[in-house]
Amino acid sequence: MEDSKRGGTKKTAAKKPAKPTMKKVLLHVEQVVENALPESDGMADKVRDAMVYAVSAGGKRVRPTLMYLTYKSFSSLVSDEILREKHDKAIEYFMAALEMIHTYSLIHDDLPALDNDSMRRGKPTVHKAFGEDIAILAGDGLLNYAFEVAAKSFIESPGDSDLEKAMLILAAKPGLYGMLGGQTVDVVLTGKKPSKKELSYIYSNKTAALLECAVAIGATLAGISGDDLDKLQNAAYYVGMAFQVQDDILDVVGDKDVLGKDVSQDEKNGKVTFVTIYGLDKAREYVRQASELAISLIDEAYASVMKTAENDYLKLLKDMIIKLITREK
Ligand code: IPE
Ligand code: IPE
Ligand code: MG
Ligand code: MG
Ligand code: MG
Repeated sequence: MEDSKRGGTKKTAAKKPAKPTMKKVLLHVEQVVENALPESDGMADKVRDAMVYAVSAGGKRVRPTLMYLTYKSFSSLVSDEILREKHDKAIEYFMAALEMIHTYSLIHDDLPALDNDSMRRGKPTVHKAFGEDIAILAGDGLLNYAFEVAAKSFIESPGDSDLEKAMLILAAKPGLYGMLGGQTVDVVLTGKKPSKKELSYIYSNKTAALLECAVAIGATLAGISGDDLDKLQNAAYYVGMAFQVQDDILDVVGDKDVLGKDVSQDEKNGKVTFVTIYGLDKAREYVRQASELAISLIDEAYASVMKTAENDYLKLLKDMIIKLITREK
């Protein structure tokens, strides 16, 4: 091999990977999510169909996209090529799993006992289309199936401690001390005015926790830990806070057809939000500031762990966060 190179034979140029674009990334994320959906077993199809209906209805796929872009921005840190190939596959299981967990949270959030919503992702909510009983079971089904999918990564890379850490993050962030905790306080305080501390608890848990989950898993599979992981997770916290405040803004000023869900639902349900307390202008300003803070934390983490100039994936990650500030859906 070496000799033939020295002998002056013309080197075939190594094929440069095509430049990633947001369009290609989103297509990839969509495929990853769709491919992980459960097959029919001819028996429990009612619930399986409802699970597939909810996930396939669309959605922005913010969480798996954030996970993927975080992983790809930093995955060159995994120097062992075989391990990196395993993580390239594992990240896909975790991306699909998180979108399933997020979708379960939406199905249950829409139930008559919670927000009582009729439209989601441009379609009738699962309880409207399949009945309340099946909607409850479909939520349970997606939460459970998410772990079935994520656990496949263990079979393909046994004894891999990064996967163990990722699994713990996947279990913890959506749970009692994460999304579920936030939803609980949101429900308990419906119709009441939450204190600033309570409002911040609700937002950081019901919404930011799943964005932190996405970024923390992406970073962990890229081998990042310690202060740098904390910094990235903190960035995701700010993206999550901004994301929920923008959701509240859109509930007031958004367009139902663009959003794919009904507007003015917070007022209807007696939810006191960031917008009710601080007004639209302050809310908009918060979304911008929190997003910019997130970007600067990502820059700091990148400078601390990477020795190279910004790569294309990092640019896409930061671009995505900036675009979320002015999102209309
Ligand atoms: C809606 O999440 C629930 C919130 C946390 C605000 P998304 O706005 O990400 O919903 P989809 O996934 O695009 O439907
Ligand atoms: C829900 O917040 C967050 C979840 C954990 C599902 P919202 O109740 O404001 O979300 P939407 O407006 O129904 O999407
Ligand atoms: Mg809600
Ligand atoms: Mg809701
Ligand atoms: Mg809302």
